[in-house]
Amino acid sequence: MRIGVLTGGGDCPGLNAVIRSVVRTAGAHYGSEVVGFRDGWRGLLENRSTPLDVAAVDGLLTRGGTTLGSARVAPEKLHAGIDEMKCTLDEHGIDVLIPIGGEGTLTAAHLLSEAGVPVVGIPKTIDNDIDGTDLTFGFDTAVSIATELIDRLHTTAESHQRVLLVEVMGRHAGWIALHAGLAAGAHLTLVPEEPFDVDEVVRLVCERFARGDSHVIGVVAEGAEPLPGQMAFRRGGVDEFGHRRFTGVTQQLGEELERRTGKEVRATVLGHVQRGGTPTSFDRVLATRFGLHATIAAHEGRTGQMVALRGTEIELVPLAHAVARLKTVTAERLAETRAFTG
Ligand code: F6P
Repeated sequence: MRIGVLTGGGDCPGLNAVIRSVVRTAGAHYGSEVVGFRDGWRGLLENRSTPLDVAAVDGLLTRGGTTLGSARVAPEKLHAGIDEMKCTLDEHGIDVLIPIGGEGTLTAAHLLSEAGVPVVGIPKTIDNDIDGTDLTFGFDTAVSIATELIDRLHTTAESHQRVLLVEVMGRHAGWIALHAGLAAGAHLTLVPEEPFDVDEVVRLVCERFARGDSHVIGVVAEGAEPLPGQMAFRRGGVDEFGHRRFTGVTQQLGEELERRTGKEVRATVLGHVQRGGTPTSFDRVLATRFGLHATIAAHEGRTGQMVALRGTEIELVPLAHAVARLKTVTAERLAETRAFTG
């Protein structure tokens, strides 16, 4: 059998571990060949590929990023390019394609699957917002990085009796903010799922200082927004993928808090550092298991599916189910966090 593999969307720690797992499982267990397509769907559209054998994936387990390169491709280009992509797959004699990616990549995978291409998807994203799987790899690493950095902010905030706001990634889902906030003992966690009340944030900050606390740490997901009409909030622009850029919510909130509380406020935007570097052991294991089970499914003809973590087991879920909606933070999970942070 010949398997095609690509990594699409924003990169995340663990992508190389999955590629290695697919190549080793295909080669060692099935004697199959693997072709890697470069830069996500672009590689299929532009017919750019590289053969992947066991030697090519040597040492990839611990390496961040993706050796295949990644890119975002606008949905309309994908729709228009289905025939070209099918041609590329035919030319390379690909029997099953294994696309590794987040919402956009898996939606495109579903599209190709509906167009008759045998596909087994693998979910990845630091945002952990893919439905149908309990976790995506990359998330644990991002949370670990954010937690370590927030731990460090505590000591400098304490020394200066400041309010430190820290912005983490998460446009639509606040999972990183929720987990890193809880793990690092933040005093305030703001997520996209629940517009925040600026008056309430001001009250919380004043209350903490009034009772003698030394500092305030607030974790803000990049997609968090105030209640409508508050703070004269200015939204950032939207890029060609419909993603909002440079919302600056954390800076805007910082300015508002400084003005209304009289305290010194500083904002730190963690940004892409959350996606860089070596994956945690948890993400290496999850990525390796996803790669293994996706390759087995491909050889058993169980296509049109995505591998998923359910409890401790890896299962298959229909791609249609996985892309139907985003998995956002539930009210119950928010309530748990609110028991410890504002
Ligand atoms: O989807 C993963 C993610 O890291 C988001 O958390 C973030 O909003 C976005 O990608 C950033 O995208 P880019 O790398 O294109 O700036």
